[in-house]
Amino acid sequence: MNPAAIPSLSARGLQKDFIQPNGERLTVLKSVDFDIYPGEMVAIMGPSGSGKSTLLQILGLMMRPDKGELSILGGDAAVMTESARDHLRRGKIGFLFQMDSLMEELTLEENLRLIQRIKGIGFAGEPVSNLSQVAGRLNLERRLPSFPRELSVGECCRANLLRA
Ligand SMILES: Nc1ncnc2c1ncn2[C@@H]1O[C@H](COP(=O)(O)OP(=O)(O)O)[C@@H](O)[C@H]1O
Ligand SMILES: [Mg+2]
Repeated sequence: MNPAAIPSLSARGLQKDFIQPNGERLTVLKSVDFDIYPGEMVAIMGPSGSGKSTLLQILGLMMRPDKGELSILGGDAAVMTESARDHLRRGKIGFLFQMDSLMEELTLEENLRLIQRIKGIGFAGEPVSNLSQVAGRLNLERRLPSFPRELSVGECCRANLLRA
């Protein structure tokens, strides 16, 4: 790694506590420090319940830590306004959720067009009309008129990937 490179994401001393139903405090993240550099591919591993999803939600600006600093693309997440956080999340962060993330009452095509509209983009910069071509890359073009409940498990996973 180039030592002069600036991290895309930098976490220092992140902490997150949850209050459990019995009133006890559960510290899920404690003193989490790391940097991720441009082009790096990073995996977070740990047993179920160890805090991976909590960490991802914080890194994805969907949750705030109780302590610590988080810098994403040079911006300090703690001091950003909600709208600046929304803007960064919408423009620069993609999430492939573990659970289904498609809207049940919309077809796959409507789901994807909704995301395009929210993000103000075509897929990979392509015009919106190329949706079936983009879906075709994941072998989903014939499923565009289907509702999420009509997709197979594998199709659903690929649709979630497209959405992300
Ligand atoms: N919103 C919440 N309120 C209370 N406890 C939570 C909440 N979210 C997660 N937890 C608890 O925090 C711990 C870590 O959860 P999570 O980050 O989802 O773990 P992982 O993704 O590694 O399986 C678990 O014990 C979970 O029960
Ligand atoms: Mg999880």
